[in-house]
Amino acid sequence: VDYSSPNLAKEMHVGHLRSTIIGDAIARILEALGHEVIRQNHVGDWGTQFGMLIAYLDESGEGSEELADLETFYRASKRRFDTDEAFAERARQRVVALQAGEPETRALWQRFIEISLSHCQETYDRLDVTLTRKDVMAESAYNDDLASVVEDLKAKGLLTTSDGAECVFLDEFTGKDGTPQPLIVRKSDGGYLYATTDLAAVRYRVRALDADRALYSTDARQAFHFRQIFAVAAAAGFTGNRISLEHQPFGAMLGRDGKPFKTRDGGVVKLNDLLDEAVSRAATLVAEKSPDLSEAERAEIARVVGVGAVKYADLSKNRTSDYVFDWDQMLSFDGNTAPYLQYAYSRIQSIFRRGEVNADQLSGAVELGTAEERVLAVILLRLQEVLEQVAREGFPHLLCAWLYELATAFMRFYEACPILNTEAPVRASRLNLCRIT
Ligand code: ARG
Repeated sequence: VDYSSPNLAKEMHVGHLRSTIIGDAIARILEALGHEVIRQNHVGDWGTQFGMLIAYLDESGEGSEELADLETFYRASKRRFDTDEAFAERARQRVVALQAGEPETRALWQRFIEISLSHCQETYDRLDVTLTRKDVMAESAYNDDLASVVEDLKAKGLLTTSDGAECVFLDEFTGKDGTPQPLIVRKSDGGYLYATTDLAAVRYRVRALDADRALYSTDARQAFHFRQIFAVAAAAGFTGNRISLEHQPFGAMLGRDGKPFKTRDGGVVKLNDLLDEAVSRAATLVAEKSPDLSEAERAEIARVVGVGAVKYADLSKNRTSDYVFDWDQMLSFDGNTAPYLQYAYSRIQSIFRRGEVNADQLSGAVELGTAEERVLAVILLRLQEVLEQVAREGFPHLLCAWLYELATAFMRFYEACPILNTEAPVRASRLNLCRIT
């Protein structure tokens, strides 16, 4: 599962939220079903912008406060690049040196990547996303494969030189007006591209990882890119006709005005700021609802509700459509939201607590004496089917819809059927139904 995969030149922003959350859900579900899942965080750590960043790191030093915030660091170095010709020249030299493997430049680059990756890891940990450093398979890891990818394409007779660039033209790829759309694999200056790296990645996933399926979680604007990559990889024989390559695209995150989600002054929303806001909004709600909890308890609940709300809002929508990011909706205690599910879950826990029941020790047959119990049981029995569908099609919202149905059916059961205050055999059966739910 290829997901998250941010560009390390900048701080993670909301554009990576969907890939990170959806990809992680898919990876977890596949794993839960017993598949061997290999996570691939295909981070962007290569390209000309790193020359600029290295030059800036060199002059500002590692202690630079700007580094605490990569967005600031990036903007400051870009400003230097645009206004200071001597700096711009140093930046260009750094690109050359980086590509040539010059040790001092490599070391600076490595430092920068290290810092950027640790920023990412903080966000993953905050989101409770399972990605770790060992899942990073950066673009630069394929550098040594790129020349041979182009050679392989050439050997297959797939290459055409156009204006000095090496291109693959396949009949199925034409623009709106019928003009052929090439996949460029080497620029006229000899440089390789995002596409070349993705071809190398397909080859690696087939040959080294021996994967049966490769799932790519990116926004829908990359759909054409992946169609081309998959077709060219197949034509070149990289796929061995065995691996199933699947792009699982998602739509954009929109503000309440229906336009792309931005800060008030039109800037990109950093993921960490977004999560801060989620937690602080949830804290306000918790303070209203449960003022007598201790401060530490309220803070923990705010974290769980706030981060959960953001993740669930994303997962519960059909990923292929754009979705409106709406704080009030996602933090509502009614409807298909994280707080509603968390509420249903805590209801169950409180039954066990009040009845002094150890849920792990509940077992035995379940008697479905009422319509509410039957409905609940039938929904529970569908879990496997739903999981398998999500694993096959990559739509986590199907699981969310099921969870919502389950929570609603549980609430009906809870209202209609006494649990703790009923005769022993029925009590045991109903408690067991609570445990299973
Ligand atoms: N770094 C890319 C971006 O931020 C996403 C990479 C997705 N994975 C891939 N194999 N191309 O848009």
